[in-house]
Amino acid sequence: MSDSVVTISPNDLDSCWKPYTANKQFKSQPRIFVAAEGIHYLTDDNRKIIDGSAGMWCVNAGHCNKKIVAAVQEQVARMDYSTAFQTGHPGEFEVAAKLALMAPGDLDHAIFANSGSEAVDTALKIALAYHRLRGEGNRTRLIGRERGYHGVGFGGTSVGGIVNNRKFFGPLLNGVDHLPHTHNPEKNAFSRGQPKHGADRADALEDLIALHDASTIAAVIVEPMAGSTGVLVPPIGYLERLREICTKHGILLIFDEVITGFGRVGAAFASERLGIVPDMMTMAKGLTNATVPMSGVMVRSGIYETFIESAPENAIDLFHGYTYSGHPLATAAAKATLEVYLEEGLFERAREMEPYWEDAVHSLRDARHVIDIRNWGLVGAIELEQIKDKPTARAFDVFLRCFDKGLTFRTTGDTVAWSPPLIIEKSHIDDMVSILREVLDETE
Ligand SMILES: Cc1ncc(COP(=O)(O)O)c(C=O)c1O
Repeated sequence: MSDSVVTISPNDLDSCWKPYTANKQFKSQPRIFVAAEGIHYLTDDNRKIIDGSAGMWCVNAGHCNKKIVAAVQEQVARMDYSTAFQTGHPGEFEVAAKLALMAPGDLDHAIFANSGSEAVDTALKIALAYHRLRGEGNRTRLIGRERGYHGVGFGGTSVGGIVNNRKFFGPLLNGVDHLPHTHNPEKNAFSRGQPKHGADRADALEDLIALHDASTIAAVIVEPMAGSTGVLVPPIGYLERLREICTKHGILLIFDEVITGFGRVGAAFASERLGIVPDMMTMAKGLTNATVPMSGVMVRSGIYETFIESAPENAIDLFHGYTYSGHPLATAAAKATLEVYLEEGLFERAREMEPYWEDAVHSLRDARHVIDIRNWGLVGAIELEQIKDKPTARAFDVFLRCFDKGLTFRTTGDTVAWSPPLIIEKSHIDDMVSILREVLDETE
């Protein structure tokens, strides 16, 4: 990071209502970043902080990658914007073609949006419209999963399964049901990688089919690895079983790979690592290394063709899209990002680093307050014992103390969730572990 960074501290914190933030606490003790490079942030009081969460599971190639920054700078000076509706620009086609090569099976068509939430709502709407176009308009039910996170749109909130994200917002979408989550600490605590027990939880889908009838169900959406709820790694065989049941009953299977995409689990996508082809796959975050907001949905050929072939001549085939779908700055960032991933071999790097990472996070097993540790790819979750009647308090306190010692990360519930940039070095991993251990040792 350059020494010439001008650090400016804002003098009005009140006007900005920060999302998913304890605003009162934050404004009494603000944590302000003014620059970033590689795996570090720089704070407004000139401290270097290790980014243990790759931003928010998104800066997979590390901060301010030079090639990505240059691509965005070049694009903004050449063409700032053009609409994706009825006109196009080269970038959106180039990125879609690259993604089609990267995605498994015949997930060969990409439709773009700007955030994970928008990608999820896009996929859910495509599922509903697809069945309708095929004369199965009764298939309107959407199935999510307890503890799932699919963003904050009404669709994503409805299929999501994290209580606090739902309970404030009324009845949400009609006709949504949920599979049980896969967390089973009695049998799977301290599992390394995919846990052994829990494939049979996919059979709950057969129960929902028995209850609602398959002819009413449009789609099942799950995160291959549930991230935001505290990292629940899929049990061995579980996702394969979901795929089988969905295929058997003509239900579309959507994998929400907003977190698991782009090397996070040591492959381009979790679906690639597991050899499963979902019918649609949502992506965001690592797609542009978070440099410019962008998301997308990969769609299997049969679905895409159903829309294209159903539309009368010169008529729109999908009544859906955003002003900023395929924004030129976003596609410039995505194109450069995908090239960086390949040129620097970052997905392979993540896979190679996984055993070291796994040993490092599991070395915290004997640290104070630790009740479970989970890992997959370059993701690690250290679950702490909840302080009686004060859920989230311990993890948040640990987060604040680690921040003071030069490490930041996401916490969810009482789980410390780590997902560093894929360029992380072993020495940084050692630093993360020793800072957390030190803090746990001093925490009551
Ligand atoms: C699996 C998953 N889906 C969707 C989203 C929503 O993405 P965004 O915050 O970009 O709307 C997230 C965000 O963390 C996510 O983890």
